[in-house]
Amino acid sequence: MAPTLLLLPGDGIGPEVMAEMRKVARWFDRHGLSFEIEEDLVGGCAFDAHGQAISDATMERALRADAVLLGAVGGPKWDGVPYEVRPEAGLLRLRKDLGLFANLRPAKCFDALADFSSLKRELVEGLDILIVRELTGGVYFGEPKEIRDLPNGEKRAIDTQVYDTHEIERIAAVAFELARVRQGRVCSMEKRNVMKSGVLWHEVVTRTHRERFADVELSHMLADAGGMQLVRNPRQFDVIVTDNLFGDILSDVAAMLTGSLGMLPSASLGAPDPETGRRRALYEPVHGSAPDIAGQGRANPLAAILSFAMALRYSFDAGEAADRLERAVELVLADGLRTADLTGPGGGAAISTAEMGDAVVAALDRAG
Ligand code: IPM
Ligand code: MG
Repeated sequence: MAPTLLLLPGDGIGPEVMAEMRKVARWFDRHGLSFEIEEDLVGGCAFDAHGQAISDATMERALRADAVLLGAVGGPKWDGVPYEVRPEAGLLRLRKDLGLFANLRPAKCFDALADFSSLKRELVEGLDILIVRELTGGVYFGEPKEIRDLPNGEKRAIDTQVYDTHEIERIAAVAFELARVRQGRVCSMEKRNVMKSGVLWHEVVTRTHRERFADVELSHMLADAGGMQLVRNPRQFDVIVTDNLFGDILSDVAAMLTGSLGMLPSASLGAPDPETGRRRALYEPVHGSAPDIAGQGRANPLAAILSFAMALRYSFDAGEAADRLERAVELVLADGLRTADLTGPGGGAAISTAEMGDAVVAALDRAG
């Protein structure tokens, strides 16, 4: 039976970029890799349809799917909705209920785009970093999380950063395993100089390394210094492992180094099933819903398309197909084709979202 893909296009430019990803999936379908494709709602559009950022029925489908592919959620239209049902809550519920603790965010600089980086070409040429972000713990989910009324009439806002040993150990193991098939180096980032969770993080990563991954090179950085090093000399990094909040921030920084947020894919993975070895997984572009350009055909679909390549690699054991798709994207960029985010002043004319999707599909034929 063909594996099922659940598409959740979401809001803003989500539906536009997912339509291009679908074209790519159809190409693979014609070339021997079949998928059963389903589609459903998440985010603001789900709130509009049934008052929730994701419905229980959609969650059921996500739990059954072999992989979930998400576009983007959110937009100013839903600024006023209650906190519990804001669009982002749909994404957070998917991460939590699917147990997707390992968020892989590669920041790779395509040669053809090095001049679009906010850093000089010589600092980012050949850049290939993988940020491994813990995704189901930390301050995103820690309790209490609330705004309290104080007797003096003020309010007090509380978020809680919590990490248990096993949560740190399993994300560290993912980072070390991935480093083994890359350049063999992991840098762990926390704030042990001010946070207890940082003290434990450092301790557990160090022990996991000593006991199970001594062949990998491990270094540690305070997360603020890590942010500074990311813009000073980014190529020193191979794999960075860090918590949920630092990972959110550092991955945006790393993304910008590569030229455009419109290029970066991500994978969020659960633990392997003890019987089948399969991991629950969700793939999504790192860029958000970009409501300012939604509906204009200006969005860059390459991050969504490259997220599909990650799905081929991590969920469907189709590494060669993933390589082929990544080569197709490189070919298209080398041909000089650019969406509006990558043309800039003095650049050539931009092609539309759909034209970019068509170009990748055409390039797949010659990327073999
Ligand atoms: C991300 C996003 C999300 C996060 C938002 C949309 C909840 O910024 O995936 O990086 O903070 O994790
Ligand atoms: Mg973010």
